[in-house]
Amino acid sequence: MSSKNRPVQKLAVIGAGNMGSGIAQKMATEGYPVILVDLDDDKVARGMNIIETTLKEGVERRIFRPEQAGEIKGRITGTADWSDLADVDLVVEAVFEDQEVKSKAIARLEESCRPDTILATNTSSFLVTELAEGMEHPARFVGLHYFYHPAKNRLVEVIPGEATSDDVTARAWALQEQIGKTPISSADASGFVVNRYFVPWLNEAVRLLEEGVADIPTIEASCKKTFRVGMGPFQLMNVTGVHIAMHAANTLGEKFGPFYAPAKTLKDQVALGEDWVFEGDADQSKFGAIEERMLGAVCYVAAQLVDEKVGTIEDTDIGARVGLRWPIGPFQMMNRIGVDRAAELAGKIASQWDLAMPKTLSEAGGKPFGFQLVKSEIRDGVATLTLNRPDAMNALNEELVGQLHTAFRKAASDKAVRGIVIAGAGKGFIAGADIRFFVKNIEKKTLDRIVNFTEAGHELLNDMATCRKPVIARMHGLALGGGLELALACHKIIASEKAVMAFPETGIGICPGLGGTQRTTRRVGTGLASWLVLTGQMVPAGKAAAIGLVDKVVPHGELDDAVLAAINDGPVHERTPGKVPEKFTSLATLFDKATADDLLAGKAYSGDDPALAKAVKKVGTKAPVAVRLSTKMIREGAKGSLKAGLAMELAHLTEIFSTADAYEGLSTLGRKRPEFKGR
Ligand SMILES: NC(=O)c1ccc[n+]([C@@H]2O[C@H](COP(=O)([O-])OP(=O)(O)OC[C@H]3O[C@@H](n4cnc5c(N)ncnc54)[C@H](O)[C@@H]3O)[C@@H](O)[C@H]2O)c1
Repeated sequence: MSSKNRPVQKLAVIGAGNMGSGIAQKMATEGYPVILVDLDDDKVARGMNIIETTLKEGVERRIFRPEQAGEIKGRITGTADWSDLADVDLVVEAVFEDQEVKSKAIARLEESCRPDTILATNTSSFLVTELAEGMEHPARFVGLHYFYHPAKNRLVEVIPGEATSDDVTARAWALQEQIGKTPISSADASGFVVNRYFVPWLNEAVRLLEEGVADIPTIEASCKKTFRVGMGPFQLMNVTGVHIAMHAANTLGEKFGPFYAPAKTLKDQVALGEDWVFEGDADQSKFGAIEERMLGAVCYVAAQLVDEKVGTIEDTDIGARVGLRWPIGPFQMMNRIGVDRAAELAGKIASQWDLAMPKTLSEAGGKPFGFQLVKSEIRDGVATLTLNRPDAMNALNEELVGQLHTAFRKAASDKAVRGIVIAGAGKGFIAGADIRFFVKNIEKKTLDRIVNFTEAGHELLNDMATCRKPVIARMHGLALGGGLELALACHKIIASEKAVMAFPETGIGICPGLGGTQRTTRRVGTGLASWLVLTGQMVPAGKAAAIGLVDKVVPHGELDDAVLAAINDGPVHERTPGKVPEKFTSLATLFDKATADDLLAGKAYSGDDPALAKAVKKVGTKAPVAVRLSTKMIREGAKGSLKAGLAMELAHLTEIFSTADAYEGLSTLGRKRPEFKGR
């Protein structure tokens, strides 16, 4: 295997401080062996203690079982010896934020690692290109900017420097997804994407205080209300360090001028060495003035960074939602308050500081911003369409399906495209359909919108299935319900070892509606299709390949090569189920023969195979109407054409969504166990 395609398997982190220890913990949590390096044994031990404490909390909060926490820790080797880095594939440096310390560490990494090891920096304030100066192989150097707490916060900004190769950026990106991160892309510019607007947000709050517009409790309460966040700017500064906010504002101020520079009061507070003090009640009469200024600052900066191509509007918003846990990002906020109003507020900031108005706002013409939910990229004749709602696990909604269809048609009719890959951004592939959309339309009694949405989905999936060019699902993570159905409509499914899939529909009161009862049968036969749909069993990729549900399973690092090989194999238009593997024959036979009512009542099996007994028991927890209807559709659908089967699924849609159990299952999801009534 060429070094270009060498999968990233062994990782290292330099600096076992607050960030480095958390980054190492996250990598180890996802199964990677990690070497954690610090200056001496004491500092290494301190880093390992930080990890131990965080893992202990994780066990107390039942995020990990005790033995899992032990395994995670077991994958981390703490050391002060750099010779241990000789065979690592990727290293993240998280040493002190000091240019000399960082440059020395990077030079030492070049000496200690293979020439093809990816070297990454977690710097917050230097440019990647600056740090790469003097490197022997700067093409392998990339920025990976994590957010505190890096074992918990999913966001990471991926920043190529001027010399970084595309291959290194792509491999570093893929690894972030593999360790459960949500990567966004940033140009190599001060503050990258998120700190560029987050730091001015903190700073502007201090300015309001300095100008006497309001006191701390009032500014705090007003910001919490406007941005719908749990902590306002002052509380956040207290938690993360008031001096850190000042340093960050200093860096931005040096590059971008006085608006970004720290407020005098912020510097004074740092000089005092004290946290902000909250005294008194909020004065609501001042909320309006605070809101205007705070929104103005965020709208101005967000639009400006998009003007400068530091980030896209989508990544700016994903950064806010994932990294800062704001419920909506700056551009969604602008749409909510009205783009004209956003331009007016940003304009006040611009004129106050004698700044040019960002074109992103001035040329928007008051029209709401549209978000590109599907990224299209063509490389060597292969179009990759990536669903880009990572914080919603790429759940399918009307807009996403519409955009995917448009992108798909374009790729399918493009003479320069020889094959199409469907991929998902972030940790998962596609977590089904947007459940809130279903709940909302049931409540509003507008089931026709659910029908229209599903019909549009069928049209898309049919176009994919019948495309003359090969269409491959790149299933790198979780695929549920509609996501699995979308994959099944592709000509082949190539899965990473970490992918898992399931049909959870009958457990939330509905039936698979995008071909799940039909295309599954044509891959694995009626018995195993029934087992999958009626139990909602989570199936790991390896097992899915054994029964023929997916075509191939490979280690994550080999996924892109395997997808490309599948493209080269050409299209597949017909599917006939292969022989059920011996290990699964009793399961398949049981689910093929038993009636839905016997399965529901637990009477379908009385033998002593615990796996079969468990499978039958599982059916008993599902919505009875959905189980009966799914069984009927699987069995009848297998007898006729795929087209007739798909039409049958659509014909039963209103019936199933009209049941009380559908509302119960969908509306209680994630809150409590549904209580199905059988109607
Ligand atoms: N703290 C944050 O919220 C945050 C967020 C994003 C990025 N960052 C960046 O992450 C990096 C680390 O920040 P931190 O908050 O974890 O700092 P920290 O002070 O907690 O940890 C730094 C660690 O690096 C070690 N170290 C210093 N020089 C070293 C060397 N030459 N070799 C090996 N180890 C060395 C130190 O002993 C210390 O354990 C900085 O670049 C910072 O800007 C921090």
